[in-house]
Amino acid sequence: MDLRIKTFEEYQEQYKKSAEQPEVFWSEIASQFSWKKNWDITLEWNFNEPKIEWFKGGKLNITENILDRHLAGNANKTAFHWEPNDPFETSKSITYQALHDEVCQLSNALRKIGIQKGDRICIYMPMVIESIVAILACARIGAVHSIIFAGFSSQALADRINDAQAKVVITSDGLNRGNKQVELKSMVDAALKNCSSVNHCIVLNVTNTKVNWESNRDLNYHSLIENEEKNCSAEVMDAEDPLFILYTSGSTGKPKGVVHSCAGYMIYSAYSFQNVFQSDKNDVFWCTADIGWITGHSYIVYGPLLSGATSVLFEGIPTYPDAGRFWEVCEKYKVNQFYTAPTAIRSLMGFGLDFVNKYNLSSLKVIGSVGEPINEEAWDWYHTNIGKKNCPVVDTWWQTETGGIMLSGLGNLSPMKAMHAGFPLPGIQPVLLDAEGNVIHENEVEGYLCIGFPWPSIIRTTYGDHERCKNTYFSNYNGYYFTGDGAKRDKQGMYRIIGRVDDVINVSGHRFGTAEIEDAINMDLSVIESAVVAFPHDIKGQGIYAFVVVENSDVKTDVELTNSIIDCVSERIGKIAKPDKIQIVNGLPKTRSGKIMRRILRKIAEGERSNFGDTSTLLDPEVVEQIVDKAL
Ligand code: PRX
Repeated sequence: MDLRIKTFEEYQEQYKKSAEQPEVFWSEIASQFSWKKNWDITLEWNFNEPKIEWFKGGKLNITENILDRHLAGNANKTAFHWEPNDPFETSKSITYQALHDEVCQLSNALRKIGIQKGDRICIYMPMVIESIVAILACARIGAVHSIIFAGFSSQALADRINDAQAKVVITSDGLNRGNKQVELKSMVDAALKNCSSVNHCIVLNVTNTKVNWESNRDLNYHSLIENEEKNCSAEVMDAEDPLFILYTSGSTGKPKGVVHSCAGYMIYSAYSFQNVFQSDKNDVFWCTADIGWITGHSYIVYGPLLSGATSVLFEGIPTYPDAGRFWEVCEKYKVNQFYTAPTAIRSLMGFGLDFVNKYNLSSLKVIGSVGEPINEEAWDWYHTNIGKKNCPVVDTWWQTETGGIMLSGLGNLSPMKAMHAGFPLPGIQPVLLDAEGNVIHENEVEGYLCIGFPWPSIIRTTYGDHERCKNTYFSNYNGYYFTGDGAKRDKQGMYRIIGRVDDVINVSGHRFGTAEIEDAINMDLSVIESAVVAFPHDIKGQGIYAFVVVENSDVKTDVELTNSIIDCVSERIGKIAKPDKIQIVNGLPKTRSGKIMRRILRKIAEGERSNFGDTSTLLDPEVVEQIVDKAL
């Protein structure tokens, strides 16, 4: 199944066709996949409800497109080269046949413990092949997977398990990350004290750590699958049945479960993978994301596997045992397409070129970036030192909610411009809106980035709360999907993402809502209230700056308070969300109606010490001076 566009002219033709005849365009692509029954209606949609149905009436199972379909000609092709955290440990490879067999074994086992189509399963695992098996086994039997990044705390895990009402959690004894080990199973044990929906916890041995065992609940992965058949009938799924839930943060409230559908997600993850990375049949692809994020879902698991590609799956981190690890792995597997995040590039830049130049990177053809805006210095460094000025940099803009890459160059076909994601993929109709919600037609403008027409992998709902989906994405601008990002469009029509225009902070490419972090901080008993804003951070892109009002601040020192606040955030969300700066303040700048003026706090966090614009609505202007005096 080769879905690739081959020239820029062809891209322009395809784009035009996708805009003029979207149904014809997507039907032709969809017909290249395996279906159990063809669809009746290609698209029915209405952004007001929202209700979006692609390939209505079609029946399929995504794993037949990933596994069974490739067995005929490519059974012995490598699906993954697994590279361990410790370079001295033995690496492993798994073929499409072996992946099929193990997926079927786990699928059979899951059915035996009572899992049925539609049940939810949470996966809290390291970057090992069995995690891919777990994901695909869910899809094989129609269970809805919800992967939770293994850096989240047990409290965050419990929240997500409860929201999804999961019946099973799949985890491991522990995980290896650099020179650290994390005891995952004990985190799950703590979470499950408060999760009554869970009947079973399946545990894989990874670190050979001794774990607590609840014999009526816990099942060992290896013993569970050992005697199972290597064949398993694939559940018949409706095109619009949910494939997975992935929790992500927004401006308000708790993280929400973004729901993606079976058929639309399948088609768009494969189509975008093949076109953006332009990978050839025998190429080796490497996406360094974690499977716990959408990038891992679409470009480690689904896109590459649907395309029959060979990928690297890396357990470790970029700086272990040293800052040359990424490049060592690229050389080892002769990686052709490499896809990472600006934060990793910025952190590796700091270690110098000796770590890069030791390795032969001549196999690279395309290098990609994702998750946050890439600044010019990082873009140049990546292009010059990793791509040797020979590889296009594909700066891919997209979101958990979009399921796949929306704006990006296509391999070496498209014009490239530093820090610009570029043109939309075929089928994607971006618009910029002004503050009043009017479409801005001309170029060289800035506006709110919205999408005017559905694409196959658009979010369908937020799990258990459809109203929230409507309010978050479809109510700000009538008739449009609102991305939450601001963007500029240049003379040629290429897009440059500026960043979030809502209260979402992007730390190292990971999304957090300010409200979510404030809630965690406010759990500290000494805290009365807090306000969290972003500030520019050299490595992380954005850092977290918390202004905190505490009770009776004489009792504890600022260091004690800061440490206890950090502990609260680590427990409630995870270490990845802990504030970089915490300033204990006497009060927050509020309007007479009690609203915190975040605009002022943002400016202070960015280093501004005066010129806060109109402050006439402030209840107590002195508060600002006090904060500025002690700003960090
Ligand atoms: O602000 C944009 C930023 O990341 C947000 C989406 O985050 P998440 O759902 O976690 O998905 C990240 C990986 C797809 C967007 O709203 N973002 C993502 N990619 C880029 C980006 N900002 C600038 N340039 C990008 N290439």
